[in-house]
Amino acid sequence: MTQSLFRPTTTVGSIVAAQPGLAGFFHRAGIDYCCGGKRTLAEACAAKGLDFTAFLTRLEVAAAEADGAPEIDAAAMSLTTLADHIEQTHHRYLKEELITLVEMADRVAGKHGWRDERLVPIAETMRSLAEEMYSHMAKEEQILFPLVRELERAGSVAGSHCGSLANPIRQMESEHDGAGAAVARLRELTDAFTPDADACNTHRAMLAGFARLETDLHQHVHKENNVLFPRALALEARAVA
Ligand SMILES: [Fe+2]
Ligand SMILES: [Fe+2]
Repeated sequence: MTQSLFRPTTTVGSIVAAQPGLAGFFHRAGIDYCCGGKRTLAEACAAKGLDFTAFLTRLEVAAAEADGAPEIDAAAMSLTTLADHIEQTHHRYLKEELITLVEMADRVAGKHGWRDERLVPIAETMRSLAEEMYSHMAKEEQILFPLVRELERAGSVAGSHCGSLANPIRQMESEHDGAGAAVARLRELTDAFTPDADACNTHRAMLAGFARLETDLHQHVHKENNVLFPRALALEARAVA
């Protein structure tokens, strides 16, 4: 029997970092590979009540199928290119989409809130998630990403000392946890983004938008938590050594 490439102690985030085409597999299995990316395969299976050996077989099949899939290989990019890519794809998408989703959720709650008591908390959750994400992206674009680019370009950050990136990174990771929890709440409040028979077109468009938001946020947070941040910290540690 050939040895599996995946071990019980391998972290979920490092698997998706090495093979981005597996993001969809973990997503479909309901395993969080971004905010929860530091969990090992064994821990993630135990949390979902999955048999590890059976899961491993499915993972290996998915890995063989995903090999060569046209996903962005964040791990192969320079840190500067990756930070640029995150801003130009995920941040741009959020800046365009969040306002629309807040407006849709407000409209649906205003019109139909009387017949479904979950629509008002859905609108509130969406609004606070949008506010948090705008402020979060501003911190990344104005503070953290420029520091990462400078570190890669110059080999150090002006006035830096070991651990100077650790604090803003810890802060960003904690905000990712908050955003992940908000999207999980949207999923829970909408029966996994499923419209009921009476849902109007705006309601349906809102749910489709939430599903896209969840997928994009998972990919976005994965690229930061599991690729950009650990590589930046390792570069900083080498720079001051
Ligand atoms: Fe970001
Ligand atoms: Fe972020």
